[in-house]
Amino acid sequence: MIILGIETSCDETAAAVVRDGKEILSSVIASQVSIHAPYGGVVPELASRQHLEYIIPVIESALEKAGVSCEELDALGVTQGPGLVGALLVGLSAAKAMAYALGKPLIAVNHLEGHIQAAFISGGIPDPFICLVVSGGHTALYRVDLDGGARLLGATRDDAAGEAFDKIAKLLGIGYPGGIAIDKLASGANPEAIQFPRSRFEKESLEFSFSGLKTAAANFVRVHGPPASDSAPGGAGSYTLEDFAASFQEAIVDVLVEKSVKAAQQCGLSDIAAVGGVAANSRLRKRLAQEAASGNFRLYLPPVEFCTDNAVMIASAAYQIWMRSGPQQGMLELDAYSR
Ligand code: KG4
Ligand code: ZN
Repeated sequence: MIILGIETSCDETAAAVVRDGKEILSSVIASQVSIHAPYGGVVPELASRQHLEYIIPVIESALEKAGVSCEELDALGVTQGPGLVGALLVGLSAAKAMAYALGKPLIAVNHLEGHIQAAFISGGIPDPFICLVVSGGHTALYRVDLDGGARLLGATRDDAAGEAFDKIAKLLGIGYPGGIAIDKLASGANPEAIQFPRSRFEKESLEFSFSGLKTAAANFVRVHGPPASDSAPGGAGSYTLEDFAASFQEAIVDVLVEKSVKAAQQCGLSDIAAVGGVAANSRLRKRLAQEAASGNFRLYLPPVEFCTDNAVMIASAAYQIWMRSGPQQGMLELDAYSR
């Protein structure tokens, strides 16, 4: 079964052609990073306009790279939500138009289900397993069963981890997306240099909170002044930008690793996957791998390119939905949803 996946929930216009949910025939992503970078975050109206410009060339390119014609597609899969509604509507409208014109089935995919699906891309993950979904909009732990069930174990009470990365990177003026900028700066720096707070709640809690950390980081800069660093000449502070980045990153990673392990223990499971944009973080990947090396659980990390937003995960999730539930009704009346 050949599915064209389309993803436009945030700032990447993506299309991919995937056979039987696994075999990637093409994956095309048009990034809008340079457009949003001057603002230090995604500007929704600009994102929608950019999706409009990119969507048709991106779909055409995905089909061409796959060597597949529209007629050869068996179905289309598209992200319906959550995300920016104006952005989602571009992908959704394109997918509906194609499905209608070609007389092909349309499959609506939840963006988070897409991220979770990325855990299967490298193959071999047995069910059930614990999935840490950690992105710009979400931070949550799920127990995933292959029959399609994902049970929420705990989520963030406030900011998502990616949001915390992005906001602090914006405060420091070090670039967008903030997670990538902090990851790069932190490499080789001292994660113990500054003791930032970790929100843990009650002993058994699998919930997260990053707003206190964000405030603590902002207060630190206010009290100590800007950092001294080669990357920020003129900084008067008694600490470096690199150490600040490493310490801030460590505070996030510590909690993500700790709660993922705790979730596995509580559920009596020994397989953990981490997915979503923040799962591309090199320190998180290393720390999870170190924990897994202790032998308490097996770790599944999608390749970095399938952690951040892409359409392979959407086409692949669409295939699973189709195998589980068959054709969906009323697909041409679908609406996007933000949450
Ligand atoms: O999954 P994603 O592409 O989009 C959403 O669904 O939100 O995740 C984007 C988020 C951004 O907050 C970005 O800063 C973060 O993922 N991110 C990272 C890294 N790469 C992307 N965070 C930490 N380290 C990274 N290497
Ligand atoms: Zn995402």
